[in-house]
Amino acid sequence: MHRFINISCANGLQDLLYSELEVIGARELRRHSHGVHCRADLPTIYRLCLWSRLASRVLLQIARFPVDSGDALYTGASSVDWSTLLTSEASFAVDFSGTGTGIDNSHYAALRVKDAIVDHFRRRQGQRPSIDTRTPDIRVHGRLVRGQVVLSLDLSGGSLHQRGYRKATGAAPLKENLAAAILMRAGWPDPGFAALVDPLCGSATLLIEGAMMAADIAPGLQRRSFGFEHWLEHDPGLWAAAVEEAKARRQRGLAGKLPSVLGYDRSTNVISSAHSNIEAAGLAGYIEVDRVPLEEICAIETARQDRGLLVTNPPYGARMGRQDELEQLYAQLGQVLKNQFAGWKAAVFSANEALCFHLGLRAHKQYRLYNGRLPAKLLLFEIYGETREEVRDATRGETRHPGQEMPRSDDVQELQEVPRAKKGAGESPGGSPDSKQSPDTQRREPEQLSSGAEMLANRLKKNRKKLARWLRDQDITCYRLYDADLPEYAVAIDCYEGAVLVQEYAPPATVDAALAEQRLREVQKVIRCTLAPGDEHIYFRQRRRQRGSQQYQRSPSGRGEGIYRVFEGGLCFEVNLRDYLDSGLFLDHRPVRQLIKSLSNGKRFLNLFCYTATATVYAAAGGALSSLSVDMSNTYLQWAARNFELNNVNPAQHRLANAD
Ligand SMILES: C[S@@+](CC[C@H](N)C(=O)[O-])C[C@H]1O[C@@H](n2cnc3c(N)ncnc32)[C@H](O)[C@@H]1O
Repeated sequence: MHRFINISCANGLQDLLYSELEVIGARELRRHSHGVHCRADLPTIYRLCLWSRLASRVLLQIARFPVDSGDALYTGASSVDWSTLLTSEASFAVDFSGTGTGIDNSHYAALRVKDAIVDHFRRRQGQRPSIDTRTPDIRVHGRLVRGQVVLSLDLSGGSLHQRGYRKATGAAPLKENLAAAILMRAGWPDPGFAALVDPLCGSATLLIEGAMMAADIAPGLQRRSFGFEHWLEHDPGLWAAAVEEAKARRQRGLAGKLPSVLGYDRSTNVISSAHSNIEAAGLAGYIEVDRVPLEEICAIETARQDRGLLVTNPPYGARMGRQDELEQLYAQLGQVLKNQFAGWKAAVFSANEALCFHLGLRAHKQYRLYNGRLPAKLLLFEIYGETREEVRDATRGETRHPGQEMPRSDDVQELQEVPRAKKGAGESPGGSPDSKQSPDTQRREPEQLSSGAEMLANRLKKNRKKLARWLRDQDITCYRLYDADLPEYAVAIDCYEGAVLVQEYAPPATVDAALAEQRLREVQKVIRCTLAPGDEHIYFRQRRRQRGSQQYQRSPSGRGEGIYRVFEGGLCFEVNLRDYLDSGLFLDHRPVRQLIKSLSNGKRFLNLFCYTATATVYAAAGGALSSLSVDMSNTYLQWAARNFELNNVNPAQHRLANAD
């Protein structure tokens, strides 16, 4: 029997998780804003709990019902036959998230669900299970979204990032599943990598996860307990077989040829935490860590180990380090990379993009991730060193010249590169003047803003702050930030993932054309300072009366490729900010798209003049049985097909037709 499972993960890991679950054997996968839905039978559920390096929780959906009051919640929860799922001997706890009509307090909602479960057992068996909110045998999850409550059993039993090996923490440790995601995005493990090095290793999370991946060790093998052990459908025989198989794989993995895994940190205490964790993970002898400050890392390592992957998570200020020291540290890391790790790949994870400029290196790929709730970036580099000689690319076996363009990959979430300071450029990324120069960048002057432009900058910051929570909760990365709020700056500013589209409203004839032009330049400056997308990711739609002509024309747009992938409520869309008047996604139609989704379950859906078929994607996500989307433009139909693919919309079920 294949059960409906919801696998949650940290924001930004959904795509990776999707691929991982597919390999583990889950079926009918569908990405959503907090993870991936799928179907899995019991052996697969066990493998998911044991083998997923990325999942947070494995939740078995047990009920879904509409709710408009506390009583409706109680009644819905009472309709579940809890005695087929749990015994009255097991302790339990209820976690609840979300609010809605009649439920304005999630704590109250958790109590109503708890009451329903307790009353159910009392009525049926005359005794009630005990409640343990701290370490229950099993947790029940409730989630209220748009009037619907979903109740689930937490089969993982606490977040799966708790592998069981963390005995001690250094400063600001990464969660284990985030560390695994960073490594996966960096291409680890790969036969082309003979070594893994973290020069700022802290408590060794990246190294331990990396070693476990290379040695085929199941991340859940050392967990003390799982929630499913108290689920009545648990089959201890099947579980024991899954564990035995994982143990055999571990043994084989550790007996094989493994890459060198090395870590350094300047702090003696932190290195001793790393040792404890490595020991607890059963990897002593497979990972070496040592107290060496970054500035002392020397060439011996690269000479000894061929080429490999340097992966690191330098401090970024939110929790540790002073700004000027951090800038210096990043510049030093960039130097170490260039001087000691030529021919290597590198992955740097940081929540402070501005600090990454101090690396003085151009990333060839970037991924947007989150460290907890903190937005962060993973930057991937191919290191050529400072000498101009050819560098052999270890992982591809090709010869490249320093500075040669890297091939692009389809799996890049964001296509923008970190803008590198140009010689003599007058701007500073993130609006902060460079107090410390990165090694191969020139000093930049801070932007001088007029008082009007400063008002605009403040308005953008204020709007962004106001929207931040909503964007995060709704998983939206494309939105209107500003809409001619200040009459002097009559533009709309839309953010699409890391790019910005500026659309100028036609200025009235009374406004001098030169002044309008100057204001537009100011808008660009302000965007650089406040949003820092990099100039190639600022696009303009300018409808301006041209001299000597009555035509409004589009001005040349941004220098980037124009194509980005953006997210909206767990769905992903391709937008093009360069080549067309419209981006492919009408931001202001979002409520209509949501309405379509909410009305589509079990329906057949017809989308005429479908454009990029975003509405169809919503209908499919809402459970439409089938759909037909019609447009006369092949360009838009191909775009629609890409949107289908991005969201796993089955083209056999959801047809696209070219017709007038
Ligand atoms: C954010 S923590 C790394 C956390 C690690 N990834 C983990 O999961 O435990 C950054 C580490 O950099 C180390 N560090 C800072 N400056 C350093 C330097 N100059 N040389 C070596 N290590 C340094 C700190 O001691 C800290 O352990």
